[in-house]
Amino acid sequence: MELIVAVYDDWGIGKDGTQPVALSADRKFFRETTRGAMVIVGRRTIEDFPGQKPLPGRVNVALTRTAKEIPGFTVCTSPEEAAELAAHAERAMVIGGGSIYRQMLPMCDTAYVTKVHTMVESDTYFPNLDEDPAWSLTEVLQSGEENGIFYEMCLYRRK
Ligand SMILES: NC(=O)c1ccc[n+]([C@@H]2O[C@H](COP(=O)([O-])OP(=O)(O)OC[C@H]3O[C@@H](n4cnc5c(N)ncnc54)[C@H](OP(=O)(O)O)[C@@H]3O)[C@@H](O)[C@H]2O)c1
Repeated sequence: MELIVAVYDDWGIGKDGTQPVALSADRKFFRETTRGAMVIVGRRTIEDFPGQKPLPGRVNVALTRTAKEIPGFTVCTSPEEAAELAAHAERAMVIGGGSIYRQMLPMCDTAYVTKVHTMVESDTYFPNLDEDPAWSLTEVLQSGEENGIFYEMCLYRRK
């Protein structure tokens, strides 16, 4: 399984249920990287989707312990159940949020990490892969600057 995330300089990823700084270059990278894939997402992150609708052109899998149904999503009640579905998909990507990344990181071998080089206050964090000996940064796929903020799309692989 793969995952995709955007992190600030302290590996913060969000505050109050949303991303305080979101770059259009990163949204484009996200769209292109996840197109056609199965995406696995926590119920709280769905609340931040436009209209709380599934992402078009993708198979949307929601993780929840409480909701019986979420329109447009296949509902799973555990990361293991989602991983079982992912095993039958051509490509499956974990797309957040914080609690889902934390629980499913051990099941992933590839991580697309956009480093958004700014410091904003977060209440949700992603594990720092630069400090995790199990992971290595293998390639910087893209980089640039938007509104004075430098960004890099980094590819990490499990060693
Ligand atoms: N920077 C990025 O790339 C990025 C990407 C995505 C999200 N985010 C940010 O991440 C934050 C949201 O993260 P979060 O940790 O608060 O919420 P989350 O991970 O999106 O969703 C949490 C919910 O997932 C369900 N869940 C969690 N563990 C489960 C399990 N083991 N089995 C079944 N269901 C499970 C529960 O839903 P129920 O309550 O329904 O049981 C839980 O409330 C937001 O700020 C968002 O903007 C950032």
